[in-house]
Amino acid sequence: MKYFIQIYGCQMNYSDAERVAAILEKSGSEKTSKESEADLVVFVACAVRESAVARLYGNGKKFKRYRLDNPNFKAILTGCVVKKDQEKLGKIFDVIIDIKHINELPAKLGLEAKETEKEFDYFQIKPEHESPFTAYVPIMTGCNNFCSYCIVPYTRGREYSRPTQEVLNEITELVRQGYKEIILLGQNVNSYRPDEATDFPALLERINGIEGDFWIRFLTSHPKDMSEKLIKTVSESPKGTNHIHLALQSGNNDILKKMNRKYTKEHFLMLAETIRENIPDVMLTTDIIVGFPGETEEQFQETAELMRMAKFDIAYINKYSPRAGTASFEMLDDVSWEEKKRREDTLNAVLRETALENNQRYIGRTVEVLIEREDKKNYFGKTKSFKDIKIKKNETDKSTVGAFAKVKVTKVTPWALEGVIMDDD
Ligand code: SAH
Ligand code: SF4
Ligand code: F3S
Repeated sequence: MKYFIQIYGCQMNYSDAERVAAILEKSGSEKTSKESEADLVVFVACAVRESAVARLYGNGKKFKRYRLDNPNFKAILTGCVVKKDQEKLGKIFDVIIDIKHINELPAKLGLEAKETEKEFDYFQIKPEHESPFTAYVPIMTGCNNFCSYCIVPYTRGREYSRPTQEVLNEITELVRQGYKEIILLGQNVNSYRPDEATDFPALLERINGIEGDFWIRFLTSHPKDMSEKLIKTVSESPKGTNHIHLALQSGNNDILKKMNRKYTKEHFLMLAETIRENIPDVMLTTDIIVGFPGETEEQFQETAELMRMAKFDIAYINKYSPRAGTASFEMLDDVSWEEKKRREDTLNAVLRETALENNQRYIGRTVEVLIEREDKKNYFGKTKSFKDIKIKKNETDKSTVGAFAKVKVTKVTPWALEGVIMDDD
């Protein structure tokens, strides 16, 4: 059997897909990069926007054709899907399975799993990592925050934190195998609380204690749980990186309140300042929603203003999409699509300016880079602060993909840096 995985949504889904792959490999299936060649097509879906769900329905005809050509063909749906959509999507997909029960997939397909996985806890499935040097490690899943627009608490359920020892063992093994970049994942990593005595800063400290040469990243942090203690811990961590993703969503206090975000714009600005003071050359990234119900031009302008002040490096600007079942679904979606688009474009223009201004400070400086891929003339990688960088090769350098390098920045754009390798000695 050949399988193909189609992934939508956030890093959590990319990480989950590595567990799906592991389960299918164990039952003797083989990966293909061509959907049309696959016997098993697995969709790891995202439900954050209505359009993402609508897109799933668009696969019905294609799957029908695959079934006619291949009697073994099966379409499988997992990831973030709400109950209501599951019922309807059952007409298109052969199997719909909760990601937490993915270990039951082979049995559902009538395949034999070579190893019987432990019941329920899917985090114990050893993933088939896509990369030999960067690994996603989920530390928690689910969400208790119920922001009024957001479907995630309904697709992923309540917060669950993995036991610290389990996380430490997984990372120790990855580092032993040579992994250089560990990306801790969770809907709100800073609510990590597996037991009374452990919080996220405590986990970071223990990961820092693992021997080896590697970077620690984490995504995402909620502003209401971003403590000074966490900022200090990151700044003092030798393996910590200078990138913080902190979702702002809106720069207007009334909208923030209607969003149920539980912080003010003043608090957000204070956090951004504290982060910049403590973590040198930090890269600050964010998520924004434009056109939330009732958002006026003035309220929107406050978001633009806050973006200018916070000087983000990357901002993912999302047009508000009403999701049935969430609290804001009951509010009138009164900002037109065209107006949402205009606000999105305006914020992207602000971002372009702040990002370029931030990047210009890099010119002439030497930064640490993890090289991710190469072509004949260049390496491509990420700086410790998570910026894309293109590096010109020269005849003498001995750099390799998957290794760290010191790079002198020679040129910048709003979205990327360019540089040359510096010799170590
Ligand atoms: N837990 C993370 C966000 C996870 S969802 C946090 O709070 O930071 C990722 C992003 O999708 C959100 O930050 C938000 O900007 C966007 N999003 C969520 N629901 C949305 C909706 N209904 N319409 C538009 N964007 C949405
Ligand atoms: Fe959604 Fe809010 Fe939870 Fe983030 S914190 S996943 S936006 S409910
Ligand atoms: Fe989408 Fe689920 Fe992530 S709804 S954004 S894939 S947590």
